[in-house]
Amino acid sequence: MKLAIGNDHSAVEIKQAIKAHLEAKGIEVVDVGVCTTESCNYPVLGYKVARLVADGAVDGGVLICGTGVGISLAANKVKGIRACVCSDPYTARLSKMHNNTNIIAFGARVVGVETAKMIVDEWLDARFEGGRHQTRVDMLTEIEQTQDLQAAHEG
Ligand code: RB5
Repeated sequence: MKLAIGNDHSAVEIKQAIKAHLEAKGIEVVDVGVCTTESCNYPVLGYKVARLVADGAVDGGVLICGTGVGISLAANKVKGIRACVCSDPYTARLSKMHNNTNIIAFGARVVGVETAKMIVDEWLDARFEGGRHQTRVDMLTEIEQTQDLQAAHEG
């Protein structure tokens, strides 16, 4: 498995810990940066990871900023991306089982390293359940591609 990881200046330390954690599990990690605490703009890193995921260059992505919000919002602007901010392992697991997320995000100023490891582990271990959840994920794709949703007009 190959994952991309990206972060802004607020998350350098926790990124290193998560990267090492993933590599210890035998996962290849593409680190798009940043690696210094010099102030930077989270959309750049969110976009870089999202691009790799959307293009199929990696199997998924991990994004970290102060809250996880800005960097996941940036990723979600890329077609085909379903990025979710998680502060707990349960949400991380369900985001894969029900929403088929392809990027997991969290906040360096919100969760500690051990919780972050659990979030990533639960997300990696979970499998998309399909079925009725596929129908709903397909609706997300329809909104993304058409800026409309047929089912919303059907009463
Ligand atoms: C940077 O200070 C901070 O705004 C950023 O890391 C993130 O939390 C934005 O959503």
